[in-house]
Order: sequence, then C-alpha cells, then structure tokens
Amino acid sequence: MSAALAPDEFQFLADLLKQRSGLALTPDKGYLLDTRLTPIAKANGLADLRELVAKLRANPSAPLAYQVIESMTTNESMFFRDSKPFEQLSKVILPALKERGATSVRIWSAACSTGQEAYSIAMTLKEESLKYPNMKFEIVGTDLAEKVLERARAGIYSQFEIQRGLPITMLMKYFTQRANNNWEINDAIKAMAKFSTGNLLMPFAAAGKFDIIFCRNVLIYFDEKTKSDVMNRLAACMNAPGYLFLGTSETTNALCDKFKVMEEHRGMFTLA
Ligand SMILES: C[S@@+](CC[C@H](N)C(=O)[O-])C[C@H]1O[C@@H](n2cnc3c(N)ncnc32)[C@H](O)[C@@H]1O
Repeated sequence: MSAALAPDEFQFLADLLKQRSGLALTPDKGYLLDTRLTPIAKANGLADLRELVAKLRANPSAPLAYQVIESMTTNESMFFRDSKPFEQLSKVILPALKERGATSVRIWSAACSTGQEAYSIAMTLKEESLKYPNMKFEIVGTDLAEKVLERARAGIYSQFEIQRGLPITMLMKYFTQRANNNWEINDAIKAMAKFSTGNLLMPFAAAGKFDIIFCRNVLIYFDEKTKSDVMNRLAACMNAPGYLFLGTSETTNALCDKFKVMEEHRGMFTLA
C-alpha cells in the first residue's frame, strides 16, 4: 500500500480506478500511487496524496479525477510487439478473408496506446496490399488516455521507440527522419489508422462490427469479472469468423465461452 495514505484513502483511490478504468489496484502495487500521483498533486497545488484524495472525495467527477486515471495507465507499447500476430494477420487471416470473398475489413486496435500496434497493422496490410486489390481496410485505434492518442495521431517516434521492434526495411520504407532523432510515419500509413477516445468499460456497440480485434496487454490490469465482461462485449461486436488477438499472457479460457482458441495457430481466437 502507499506509505503516504491511510487504508481508507487507498481504498477510495482503488475504487475510483476500478470503476472508471478497470484497473485492479492491489496493495502491493500501492507504490505506483506515490510515484505517479505525487506529480499530479504538486501540479494542482496540493501538498500531498492525502490532499489529493480529499479533493477527489469532494468532487469525484472533476477533471482532476481524469488526470489521476490517465496517469495510472501503463502505456508501454512497441512496433510489431510479439511479431506473431502480424505474421498471422498476413499469412492466415487475410487469405482466409479473401477465400470468404471479403471486400471490406474492419480492424480495431483496442487500447492502442501511442499507436505502434495500429501502425504495425497498417504496414502489414500495405505490404500485402497487392495480393488483395479488392479489399478495403479500416483501422480504428482507441484508448482511454487522450495523451497517448495525441501521440498516436502525430505518428512521431523517438529513436528508442523505433529501435524496439521495427525492422530497418520498414523504417526506410515508411518513415521520414525529423529533428532531434525523431521519425515520423509517412502520410499514406498515417491515413490508414484513425484514433479516438474509447473506454473498454463503456458500451462500444456504436462503433459497429469488426472483423479483427487486437485487444492486447490491457485486460491483464483488470480483475476476472471485468475481463470476462469486456470479452463478451468484444464478441458481440465481431463479424464471424471474428479474429481476436490478446497479449501473450492473456486468454479467454474460463472467462468467455464466446471465443475458441485456434489450435493450429497459437495465440489466435475466433468466435465459438
Ligand atoms: C500496455 S498498453 C498496451 C498497448 C498495445 N495494445 C500493446 O499491446 O502494445 C495498455 C493501454 O491500455 C489503455 N487502457 C487502460 N485501461 C483502459 C480502458 N478501460 N479502456 C481503454 N483503454 C484502456 C492504457 O491507457 C494503455 O495505453
């Protein structure tokens, strides 16, 4: 638990985060409150976390609450993370969709963070596009945190971010070097992905149906009930056969019977 908070204050923040973002904050992760929220308290002219809690208790729907929720998100991402899903997209899913006569394919990067996942999908599709002249693709990236979406829309990455996972051939083909060793993704790839705010705890049926969903490395922060609820709602917004990718340590097993594992393609799920 946070050293700076009384148990009821810790519980207040844990409840707020659980209700508004799904984050299940266990006492052993309480130190994160100190490191991430102390700068928020200071920036808002508050002496410490206890004053921050008092202010939130007085008005839990104030913009301050959003700052707290946003700064407690973990936004770690990288290009072609775990590589396999992108191989499976080009080698398994696109041929299967072509076989079914698909002409329009909608892909959702749910919890897209700074956009590397959506742009890795876009580059994969671009590489394969000659084989699928009759297919139109739409990539939608959503995240709870507006600060990461701004970065995703800008499509500008540091040398460090570029070095993590992006093959040099892709860098040369799809990026332009900018000042300060930054790299900007080219307009043609940028135009393939649209980013908007979206909280996985809220209804998302209005976004329409998707053929492929990447929902990776976010459910890991939720408790079992929330994971199960999100997975059931993801299933409801997919067109059959409905391809779902989760993070390498995430699974639908025992949480949602609307998906089944594709035995021959590890890590991929389809509608049951
Ligand atoms: C670790 S990143 C994963 C990024 C990317 N999917 C990947 O695997 O590289 C998790 C992201 O989930 C977002 N997030 C957390 N809770 C969320 C929620 N309830 N709804 C939507 N996004 C959420 C965070 O803001 C963060 O950007």
